[in-house]
Amino acid sequence: MMDGAPLPPPNPDLLHDALAGLTAPKKSLPPKWLYDARGSALFEAITDLPEYDLTRTETAILRAEAGRLARLVPPGGALVEFGSGASTKTRTLLDAGPHLGAYVPVDISEAFLAETATALRRDYPHLSIHPVAADFTAPVALPAELADRSKVGFFPGSTIGNLDPAIAVRLLAHARGWPDVRAFVLGIDLVKDEAAMVAAYDDAAGVTAAFIANILVRLNAEAAGEFDPATFAYRATWNVEAARIDMELVSRRAQTIRLADHEIPFEAGEPIHVSASRKYTSDSVAALVCDAGWHLDKMLTDPMDRFAVAILAPEV
Ligand SMILES: C[S@@+](CC[C@H](N)C(=O)[O-])C[C@H]1O[C@@H](n2cnc3c(N)ncnc32)[C@H](O)[C@@H]1O
Repeated sequence: MMDGAPLPPPNPDLLHDALAGLTAPKKSLPPKWLYDARGSALFEAITDLPEYDLTRTETAILRAEAGRLARLVPPGGALVEFGSGASTKTRTLLDAGPHLGAYVPVDISEAFLAETATALRRDYPHLSIHPVAADFTAPVALPAELADRSKVGFFPGSTIGNLDPAIAVRLLAHARGWPDVRAFVLGIDLVKDEAAMVAAYDDAAGVTAAFIANILVRLNAEAAGEFDPATFAYRATWNVEAARIDMELVSRRAQTIRLADHEIPFEAGEPIHVSASRKYTSDSVAALVCDAGWHLDKMLTDPMDRFAVAILAPEV
């Protein structure tokens, strides 16, 4: 630091994950570290981009089906949302469901979650709101206040596509085990034209590139990293075998970068895999949810089958 102030000690969890990923034969960083307050704000900017039609398409489906979806929650029941972000889509369901008793937004971006909860408490004073700052790739403990309420899970935004299928199954299976769980509403991006899928993750304005590079900014600020983000180029590619978009940062030149007490060598052109967005078909969604103890009850899609809101019922 210019003023000589001591650097804060590295965040041990971030440093541990970064070293594990950056010293592996194929370098990677876990996408959950994309989301601090800046990362969450950048993601919100992505949702307005002309290339990123996922949010607009899903929102249109949620608006058209809001009554049906809200009725999945019995009177006084709770809606539990994973990766709630700004909870913008949730408002569509809350507006259609004045009978809901509680809302539980679960998100890793703690400050953003707290701000969102404050705004929701102001706008929905009748609703009991219990934000949970947690990593949903591990089982999330629900607040004790929910014990006696029926529950419906909500996981919009195609965020499930960012998870390895085994972790996605674990999350869904955990929710299947909630006492008195009634349904799960899952937003999923569908396989479509490759050019449209790639464009959604590689916008002309470079907002997605800045969002993905935010992980290097965080490593510098929170884990004593010395990355120059300008020495990495952003790349989004369609991986047809895995049915996913891969988002990577590619070293523009050979370089060695310091991270806390470690030196990380990069070859010119070497990628760091940062995030993936898996795309599904109705068959692959049905197989995924079945492995977690759910039955695919309905796929609500837009007229062009670009996106689906799946209603899952507990398999009995
Ligand atoms: C793709 S955004 C979706 C936001 C919002 N649900 C929507 O549909 O627009 C993913 C959200 O999940 C959160 N998130 C990502 N990884 C997470 C993790 N491992 N645990 C908890 N939240 C996570 C992010 O902070 C972000 O708010």
